[in-house]
Amino acid sequence: MASLLAAAGVTALAGTAEAAGTLGAAAAEKGRYFGAAVAANHLGEAPYASTLNTEFNSVTPENEMKWDAVEGTRNSFTYGAADQIVSHAQSRGMKVRGHTLVWHSQLPGWVGGLAAADLRTAMNNHITQVMQHYKGKIHSWDVVNEAFQDGSSGARRSSPFQDKLGNGFIEEAFRTARAADPAAKLCYNDYNTDGVNAKSNAVYNLVRDFKARGVPIDCVGFQSHFNSASPVPGDYRANLQRFADLGVDVQITELDIEGSGTAQASSYTNVVNACLGVSRCTGITVWGVTDKYSWRASGTPLLFDNNYNKKAAYNAVLTALGGTGSGGGGGGASCTVSYSRTDDWSDRYNGRVTVTAGGSAISTWTVAVTVTSPQKVSTTWNGTPSWDSSGNVMTMRPNGNGSVAAGASTSFGFTVMKNGNSSAPSVGSCSAS
Ligand code: G3I
Repeated sequence: MASLLAAAGVTALAGTAEAAGTLGAAAAEKGRYFGAAVAANHLGEAPYASTLNTEFNSVTPENEMKWDAVEGTRNSFTYGAADQIVSHAQSRGMKVRGHTLVWHSQLPGWVGGLAAADLRTAMNNHITQVMQHYKGKIHSWDVVNEAFQDGSSGARRSSPFQDKLGNGFIEEAFRTARAADPAAKLCYNDYNTDGVNAKSNAVYNLVRDFKARGVPIDCVGFQSHFNSASPVPGDYRANLQRFADLGVDVQITELDIEGSGTAQASSYTNVVNACLGVSRCTGITVWGVTDKYSWRASGTPLLFDNNYNKKAAYNAVLTALGGTGSGGGGGGASCTVSYSRTDDWSDRYNGRVTVTAGGSAISTWTVAVTVTSPQKVSTTWNGTPSWDSSGNVMTMRPNGNGSVAAGASTSFGFTVMKNGNSSAPSVGSCSAS
């Protein structure tokens, strides 16, 4: 079953990406990157890799560069999984964000057991060794992650670094990092700092102080993990801008938004628009490729569903980025497609393809759907099909009036007789005019 899904995912994605534009390409046209957090152990899954490779132009190792992964034993560095991600990215021209050097979590036990002087040596050695290993390969490093408490105190979070080295540990980490790889952008990264609040004020004061005193810092990462209890703040863009005004880049580093459908899509639109509205917002990273492997999978917070279908949120992001349709020029007629299996029986299944217009209204559209022989399409609805000579490739056009307003959707459906093969169809490029 897994391999059937995998095979289906690959073919479905190849076609859609080609004509609809991709997140990475659309972001690049805006002078930004669009990245995903990646886990090395999923790179061998064909639709995971093909979605990553097609859509994203930056990666962040989700766990593989953390202290426990690279230096579980003191001064014994293990880079296997992280190297795998870096070489996957480099061979495809993707950027890499480094995550993360100094963090209270995923810290091996030996670190917490050190006395202050030894801890200082260990922290600086860790930063130096890891950054030198990846020198020249990482565009931005999360040097220090999550050093402030939640809530109204604006205080530092307790950690071995804070408790034993005091407030100066952050400055020391950044100075060490600058010496280790002078070309890498050095970021402070945190969550619940996305709007103006006590925690973001504390980070703001830290950055302002660093800039005033010449402590090296180049960027601030806003993790942006959102859900109904913690929605995209109304002052998100203003908050990004006030940091940018301090003279640092800002990056959206771990974006995910729990929810579904149009509500989720519109929250994603707001995030993308906020970044595009701040000239120093240099890129967006979503915290995973597919809902299937999200750290909070039950909240379906990402842009691709469990079967690597593009969600409404994907279309919203691509549209907000000014993503292009078949013409490639931007601003013209464009559409994207998503596919889902709506019913499943032992001998047949029903599929639905949703066509979503891009940033302009479209007057007509065309989508190719290919089934795998000996499968046959037995029925269709809400569309006018035509067939190639093999009978496996169905080109679907609107029934009558094909007008779809900007950002709006229409869908058609069909029944596939399995004839022993349950795999999903390949849903190809959507073209619009
Ligand atoms: O790899 C092991 C596996 O061998 C073992 O069987 C399994 C059993 O628990 O654990 C697996 O490791 C898990 C790892 O994710 C990989 O899946 C860890 O237990 C689990 O703690 C770890 O969670 C990660 C979490 O950071 C740790 O704090 C999440 O994947 C990762 O998405 C999350 O990312 C953080 C950012 O680094 C910082 N900001 C918040 C963000 C979300 O929590």
